[in-house]
Amino acid sequence: MRYLTFALTKGRLANKTLELLEQIGITCEEMKDKSSRKLIFVNEELKLKFFLAKGPDVPTYVEYGAADIGVVGKDTIDEENRKLYEVLDLGFGKCRMCVCGPAEARALLQNQERIRVATKYPRIAKDYFYNRKSQTVEIIKLNGSIELAPIVGLSEVIVDIVETGATLRENGLEVLEEVCPLSARVVVNRVSMQMESERITRILNALKEVL
Ligand code: PRP
Repeated sequence: MRYLTFALTKGRLANKTLELLEQIGITCEEMKDKSSRKLIFVNEELKLKFFLAKGPDVPTYVEYGAADIGVVGKDTIDEENRKLYEVLDLGFGKCRMCVCGPAEARALLQNQERIRVATKYPRIAKDYFYNRKSQTVEIIKLNGSIELAPIVGLSEVIVDIVETGATLRENGLEVLEEVCPLSARVVVNRVSMQMESERITRILNALKEVL
């Protein structure tokens, strides 16, 4: 039997995913050792491998078949737009993709003005403004602390993830429009889904039962 390989998103999503996998009897003791610098972990009995990657790299590993299964946020799946199957909503890591800005920016959105939009998610922002709203905007790609952009005058609004809303509140910004709800999803390589359908389906069904 060949190994099935999981790509997990480093950080909070990985911890939640490991808890969930444990509930269905898939454990990886090696992975719990936080001091370890090892990148890949093996469960020999179940013939499973696990590795941790940066969120945006998870769909890449899965598309190319370097991982059979991935766990990653819906935001990253939509932004990366890789060829893979999205098969299960894990229901954790819940948050929302939103258009945010100062209250004054509401009018700019309503009047379909040619505004600047700062975001870590240019594909999602472009799809939202161009395809869903038919509003021509200028999209500016940033890599973090997106809330800064409207404060320092880089852009009128941002497209970003809102979880508790604390970052917005503390910076005098608010949600102006909601783009879509987000959560952690399971993705599967398209060939693996055919070749290993029995093992993968068994894992997915077990996950569905505990969710
Ligand atoms: C994310 C997101 C917001 C914040 C939202 O940033 O980009 O800034 O969390 O959470 P809240 O609604 O609970 O305040 P993250 O902390 O991942 O870092 P980043 O700014 O580097 O993207």
